[in-house]
Amino acid sequence: MMEKQWKLETKIVQGGYNPKPGEPRILPIVQSTTYKYDDADHVADLFDLKATGFFYSRIGNPTVDGFEKKVALLEGGIGAVATSSGQAATTLALLNICQAGQHIVASSTLYGGTFTLLSSTLKKMGISVTFVDPNASEEEIEKCFQPNTRALFAETIGNPNLNVLDFAKFSKVAKKMDVPLIVDNTFATPYLCRPIEHGANIVIHSTTKYIDGHATSVGGIIVDAGNFNWDNGKYPEITEPDPNYHGLRYYETFKEAAYIVKLRVTLLRDIGATMSPLNAFLSVLGLETLHLRMQRHSENALELAKFLANHEKVQYVRYPGLETDPSYPLTQKYLPLGASGVLCFGIKGGTEAGKAFLNNVKLATLVIHVCDIRTHVLHPASTTHRQLTEEQQRASGVTPELIRVSVGLENI
Ligand SMILES: Cc1ncc(COP(=O)(O)O)c(C=O)c1O
Repeated sequence: MMEKQWKLETKIVQGGYNPKPGEPRILPIVQSTTYKYDDADHVADLFDLKATGFFYSRIGNPTVDGFEKKVALLEGGIGAVATSSGQAATTLALLNICQAGQHIVASSTLYGGTFTLLSSTLKKMGISVTFVDPNASEEEIEKCFQPNTRALFAETIGNPNLNVLDFAKFSKVAKKMDVPLIVDNTFATPYLCRPIEHGANIVIHSTTKYIDGHATSVGGIIVDAGNFNWDNGKYPEITEPDPNYHGLRYYETFKEAAYIVKLRVTLLRDIGATMSPLNAFLSVLGLETLHLRMQRHSENALELAKFLANHEKVQYVRYPGLETDPSYPLTQKYLPLGASGVLCFGIKGGTEAGKAFLNNVKLATLVIHVCDIRTHVLHPASTTHRQLTEEQQRASGVTPELIRVSVGLENI
C-alpha cells in the first residue's frame, strides 16, 4: 500500500496500522509487557539492535507502534517515539542531542511548562538556554547562538500568546547555524500545519491536546523528519561509537533514522517515559477524526473571535485567524485550512471582571486544559499564574484582563 501517497484525510483514517489477513481490523490494545521468543540468539540480536521486534514494552509495544506510525505518516516523518506526556517528549527530544555544557536557543513564546523545563530543570542539568523574541530579525536570532548551541526550539502557534511561527526565518537560521529546528506542533496539529514541509527537522506534540482530542489521555510524541545531517561534527553521540551497544555508530548504521533510533534505545530505555498501550489506543481513536474536528474547531473559534471583537465589554481579541491579528500574514502562509481552536480576549475590568466572567459562564467549563471537544475557559491571572506579581504576570504575557478560551465542537 502506498500510504505516503494518500491524501491527508485518508492517512488520518487509515494510516499507520495495516492488519494482515485474520488480524483485528482495529488496532488492538496489546496489554502485555513482554514478548515470547524461541531462540536465544534471536533475543541477543534484539538486544544488539541487529534484529527488530518487540521485547519489552518500555521500549516498544504494538499498540504504541501503531500510534507512532500514524503520527509519523501525518507529519511526513520517517519515524516517531511516543512518550508518557508532552513534557516527556520535549525533554527527550532535547536530551537526545544536548548535554551538560551545551546550549539551546528557544522562542520566548512557549507553553509555561516548556519554559520552566528549559529555564529551570534543564539548567540544573547544565544545559543553558537563550530565549529570543520570535519577532526578532534573523541577525538577532543568530546572535543568540554560541559555539555549543545544539538546537533551535519554537512552537507553531505559541501558547498562550497565539503567535504563528515564521518558519522561513527560523528554518533559515537553523540551517545557517547547522542545528536542528525542533517545533512543538501541538496547537496546530498535522492537519493544519506540517512543520517538516516548512523546514523543521524534529516535530513534537503534547498528544494530550487535539491529537487525542477528547481529554482522556496524557501523552506526547517526537517525530523525526530524517532530514538533518548529524555528521557535522556537533553530535558525536550520534556519529561516534556508543559503548552501551558494543561501539555501535547510530549514524553509520541507521542513516537518516539515527536520531529517532538512538532516542528510543537510549533515552526511552533509560528514563522510561513510555506511553501506555491504552493511552496509545485512545489517542489513535481520537486521531482518526482529526480532520473533521480541526475544521470545526477553527470555524467555531473564528466565529467566536469575530463576535467578541465586536462586543462592548471586550477590550481586544487575539486569534491568529482574525484579519486584524498581528499573526494573520503568517496564518495565511502556514495555516491555510484554519487557525485552530484557541483564542484569548481581554475583558474590560481586569482581574475582578475576569473572575466574575468565569463564575458566570453557563456552558463552557473552567478547567486547566485546552484543545478538546468541549469549550473551556481560563482566567490565567487568578488561576495558573496567581502566584506571580502583576509585573511578573505581564512579563509572561498574562495580563489581568486576559481570558483564554479553548473553543469546542458545540453548536457555535
Ligand atoms: C504547546 C504545549 N506543549 C507541551 C505541553 C505539555 O504537554 P503535557 O501536558 O502533555 O505534558 C503543553 C501542555 O499544555 C502545551 O500546551
